[in-house]
Amino acid sequence: MKKITKAVFPVAGFGSRFLPATKAQPKEMLPVVDKPLIQYAVEEAVAAGMTEMIFVTGRNKRAIEDHFDKAYELETELGLAGKTELLNEIQDILPKHVSCIFIRQSSPLGLGHAVLCARPVVGVDPFSVILADDLMDPKPGMPGVMAQMLEVYEREKTSILAVKNVPPSETNKYGIVSVTPYKSKLDRVNSIVEKPAPKEAPSNLAVVGRYVLNNAIFDYLEKVGKGSGGEIQLTDGISMLMQSEPVMAYHYSARRYDCGSKLGYLQATVAFGLKHPEVGEAFSEYIDEISQAD
Ligand code: UTP
Repeated sequence: MKKITKAVFPVAGFGSRFLPATKAQPKEMLPVVDKPLIQYAVEEAVAAGMTEMIFVTGRNKRAIEDHFDKAYELETELGLAGKTELLNEIQDILPKHVSCIFIRQSSPLGLGHAVLCARPVVGVDPFSVILADDLMDPKPGMPGVMAQMLEVYEREKTSILAVKNVPPSETNKYGIVSVTPYKSKLDRVNSIVEKPAPKEAPSNLAVVGRYVLNNAIFDYLEKVGKGSGGEIQLTDGISMLMQSEPVMAYHYSARRYDCGSKLGYLQATVAFGLKHPEVGEAFSEYIDEISQAD
């Protein structure tokens, strides 16, 4: 069986929940402590063994391309100043065997459309999709969420969606699935619907930003047309895919931060700040200090 080596990163959304910060830069460039969200996402893909990073970018795309490119002036300056540690850090953002491909989504017609834009590069292979604004933090010693999902894919060979239970009042923010239990941490998906109102939701099991998809999804994304919010929805493509082949829901092991929302972003910053090797201790003291202050 072919190994999955291609990761698609749709990064062309408006990021309207994070304006004005996202007016001139994609939300995936927002840093959590000292790394942009997109770098955490790429590191997760690389740790899962992927070698081709496919970014579907929109307007204001430059920052992401530049981040994964060489920075000649900066590297020269750091070298001349003898700042070797920093120099190594920016030179090692991507391992040498990993390549980046950038595709433009000319207008943000929806996540399904963004994934479809990657078709000419993905070709006939199965692939993964990672939404960088869902920042995943596995427990120490646990593999990343994409590595967990690929392990399941190698056994099951079906498309796999990462899922978690959300409060019933929040079903209208997610794709929601109804499932039949199948194996430990793995369910069969019976139906999927985009952002249902709590009263109409088939469950409170939500799809979050990690997918492993069989290539047939592209044929369905070509056909779906506009769905919820007037956008071409990946959820609707998956719903059609399910009519011809099984799709699984995987209960991943990690804490997830919704960094597309202000609160989730702040929570991630605190969690990653507290365990950061350089500033963690001082930050923890500061948190204690302000929580005790009246
Ligand atoms: P979101 O639903 O979070 O939308 O997209 P958004 O526009 O980024 O943010 P808000 O809701 O306006 O604040 C989910 C993912 O799909 C990408 C986004 O970049 C994000 O990673 N996306 C969405 C695209 O690449 N293109 C689109 O047309 C829509």
